Amino acid sequence: MILDFFSPFGYSIKSSDFKSNGERIYFTATSDSGNPIIASTAQMTMHGGMLSCAECHGTDGKGGTGRMMMWSFEAPDIRYSTLTAAHDEEQTYTDDLIKRAITKGIDSSGKRLELPMPVWQMSEVDFNDLLDFLKTLKPAYLGISIWICRDPFLPIPLLFVT
Ligand code: HEC
Repeated sequence: MILDFFSPFGYSIKSSDFKSNGERIYFTATSDSGNPIIASTAQMTMHGGMLSCAECHGTDGKGGTGRMMMWSFEAPDIRYSTLTAAHDEEQTYTDDLIKRAITKGIDSSGKRLELPMPVWQMSEVDFNDLLDFLKTLKPAYLGISIWICRDPFLPIPLLFVT
């Protein structure tokens, strides 16, 4: 299976500067140090650069529905604030459990993470940089957005607050 052109969220990554090594790893699966970052799944092993966290978990870490050929999957929200928040059924993540999820493919409750989440191999330094980056992803917050829209059948603009 070739995943070269795979980008479920359909955006393209620019190789412009990243603010940190962690951000670079999140978006490109390559490291400033040049140390390899390897993603393995049951079917294949990929050296960094072909598949990145952002491609499945989104540029903001919120996850969502991704698509791989004919198949669609749900990638979870992996912002640090979400992983470490209290859950009803699942155990809350700690830094060590996040590391286990990423490098061993086992979730906080000891369950194996399913495809297409790869098992990642990276150096300790790179993992810590990546974890620091997950901590910078904005937590969910309440916001309001205002839309002004002109209905073609009404003479006045309509205002929506969502
Ligand atoms: C090809 C898509 C894909 C890529 C690339 C990917 N993930 Fe995932 N990831 C998933 C899916 C799907 C799951 C959910 C698997 C499950 O629930 O069994 C997941 C689960 C996780 C979890 C566990 C979340 C939870 O709530 O238990 C973490 C943490 C995680 N991914 C981090 C990462 C990081 C960090 C990277 C980059 C180094 C990455 N993932 C790359 C698809 C992906």
